[in-house]
Amino acid sequence: MLKISKLRLISLFCLMLAVPSMAFAAGGSAYMLKAKNDLNNTESLQRGAKYYVNYCASCHSAKYVRYSRVGADLEISDDELVNNLMFNASKPFETMQASMSTDDALRWFGAPAPDLSLISRSRNPDWLYTYLKSFYKDSSRPLGSNNILLPGASMPNVFWEIQGEQTPIFHNVEVSGTDENGNEIMRTVEEFSHFATVTEGSLEPKEFDLVVRDIVNFLDYIGEPVKVKRKKMGVWVILYLLILFGFAYFLKKEIWKDVH
Ligand code: HEC
Repeated sequence: MLKISKLRLISLFCLMLAVPSMAFAAGGSAYMLKAKNDLNNTESLQRGAKYYVNYCASCHSAKYVRYSRVGADLEISDDELVNNLMFNASKPFETMQASMSTDDALRWFGAPAPDLSLISRSRNPDWLYTYLKSFYKDSSRPLGSNNILLPGASMPNVFWEIQGEQTPIFHNVEVSGTDENGNEIMRTVEEFSHFATVTEGSLEPKEFDLVVRDIVNFLDYIGEPVKVKRKKMGVWVILYLLILFGFAYFLKKEIWKDVH
């Protein structure tokens, strides 16, 4: 009886381990890069804040974020805040608003630029990193650029100067499907393979990747500012538990030593 339930437990455990890998297998060959951002890297977050203000804040707001909170969390002094980050505000307690109004965004881009306060929760950091690196030259689009991850995106490629321009290369893959009579058939579809450079940017590709990683790090941070603190606290909690375990272990030994 005991053996069976143990066996069940073990198989349940194996199943728990297997579920995430099965989900991954289903996601298969889909194109997605890894952001590899690190919320404990304060310097990266500081750079990310600066890039964000320079490259994104003209169109996007982050209206749940106060400059003063960013300053406190990322160890940026009030002077630096005012001089380097606050182009759209005059007091540190103000929230991060866009310079452009929603009406202008609609008129110029045909779509409002969404607020980015919580974007790292609706789109995860890997998605954001991939999206920002996937703009390409497309003269059929009103602003001359398109995006592999979000086809028909109304956002222009804000990085064209530092990244340069790129064009996507596709390859053919065979996929199985069924025709209208339910028969199994093979079809050839085009799948994105990689980007080829059209014009060089002012940054080396590796340097450009770091800029994007810093911006994504900043977006991840503003999505959940307490996460930075929570991660640091987690280490202390684990240390505390380890010490507590040590005490409990020796206490148990002490109590039972006369019994054995
Ligand atoms: C010139 C204006 C402009 C600038 C500058 C700009 N964006 Fe956008 N962005 C837009 C518009 C317009 C959309 C809406 C796109 C759509 O839905 O097709 C958008 C959409 C987005 C999305 C949402 C995609 C989605 O559907 O979830 C993200 C994320 C984003 N921008 C991030 C950024 C970041 C990060 C920067 C700075 C590096 C930036 N944007 C700079 C105009 C801009």
